[in-house]
Amino acid sequence: MDKLIIEGGVKLKGEVTISGAKNAVLPIMAATLLTDDACIIKGVPELRDTNTMVKILRSLGKAVEFEKGVVSVSSLRNTSYIADYKLVSTMRASFCVLGPLLGRLKKAKVSLPGGCVIGVRPVDLHLKGIRALGAEITIDAGYVFARAKKLKGAHIYLGGVYGSSVLATDNVMMSAVLAEGKTFIEAAACEPEVVDLAEFLIKMGAKIKGHGTPVIEIEGVKSLHGATHTIIPDRIEAGTMILASLITKGDILIKNAYFKHLGALIDKIEESGANIVKSENSLHVRYKKTIKAVNITTLPYPGFPTDMQAQMMSLMSLAQGITVITEKIYPDRFMHVAELNRMGALIQREGPHAIVEGVSKLSGAPVMASDLRASACLVLAGLAAKGKTSISRLYHLERGYENIESKLEKLGARVWREKE
Ligand code: EPZ
Repeated sequence: MDKLIIEGGVKLKGEVTISGAKNAVLPIMAATLLTDDACIIKGVPELRDTNTMVKILRSLGKAVEFEKGVVSVSSLRNTSYIADYKLVSTMRASFCVLGPLLGRLKKAKVSLPGGCVIGVRPVDLHLKGIRALGAEITIDAGYVFARAKKLKGAHIYLGGVYGSSVLATDNVMMSAVLAEGKTFIEAAACEPEVVDLAEFLIKMGAKIKGHGTPVIEIEGVKSLHGATHTIIPDRIEAGTMILASLITKGDILIKNAYFKHLGALIDKIEESGANIVKSENSLHVRYKKTIKAVNITTLPYPGFPTDMQAQMMSLMSLAQGITVITEKIYPDRFMHVAELNRMGALIQREGPHAIVEGVSKLSGAPVMASDLRASACLVLAGLAAKGKTSISRLYHLERGYENIESKLEKLGARVWREKE
């Protein structure tokens, strides 16, 4: 197993190009289960998670080629309806094969996702949605078994305790596209990744309206055909690079990034006194003056993304003043607090809140990544810290950031890998 070593204190400078969005491509790859025709997906990042989804599609009977950012999917044999524990347990997002399998085969047996360090992540909304379409569901031996003679359109309220659910919206949408009649999903997730999935489904022949708003309308069709689609850029990777420029007092041009997907983050960055020059698909972030503390509350899109909370905490740990961060999506998503404090940050956790008192400097230290975004937070802290930081359990980072070392190196960072 590898660890990442960062020698901090370098002002990052230059250009970086953002990869395709992990959280868009995973459900889009799953959607290829809705047809036997060939599908081509472009702009696919080379990640642990995309490779896991390739394995899952192959285990379900698909022929999948993945080369130079292009995934080509076609049918090798009849699609199987069973997604087994061995693969699903390594990646929660694979639960989104449930919707397309049920939609297409009228039956699906998918392992329940296991535990997750960022918090309790039930799937009750997924099951509520497909049950409303007429599926019978049994949960046995760690598997969800859903089946239906036929699926029928329905009016479904999909709001949960913490608001809308991204993957539940995806799963219900992918079941409803082949159901009889109309389905309305109320309190649907509005994330750009949900919109990208809907766009792909429409290219396959689906009838969908209202995607990107809290009410999605789907009119079922008899069958879907193959399609070609290019994935949207990863707004979370872009957000991480914005903070990398500011935390190192740098000057970075971030290419293939849509400011329209980053409204809440850019708003907070500007409130903290920083400036971002926006153009159609790039962002220029040049550090100018001391960053001021700003309060953050995570919310479903278009609110402040929970997947940027940890990285923002790194920046706020060096900001002028006191920041209160409130995590409203995963109230326990604070595994990174103790690791940042090991680097000299002053952060106190109070239930779903973290109180961050800005310090003048961080110092390098050995730290441990607990999940994908916590590892990005530690990379940012390491880039700003005095001395060397070593981040272990690098596999978390590899799940969601394509070639992050070489991208940072090209910006001047002193970063390298070592065996644990
Ligand atoms: C997606 O997960 C993302 N993953 C997550 O990104 C992201 O943190 C999350 O959305 C929220 O933005 C992918 O897209 C692959 P949710 P998802 O269902 O869909 C509760 C990353 O770092 N809930 O929108 O699984 C749930 O517990 C990952 O890239 C229910 O109560 O998240 C949470 O509190 C981490 N019942 C809230 O809703 C349900 O049935 C939002 O979760 C489903 C969810």
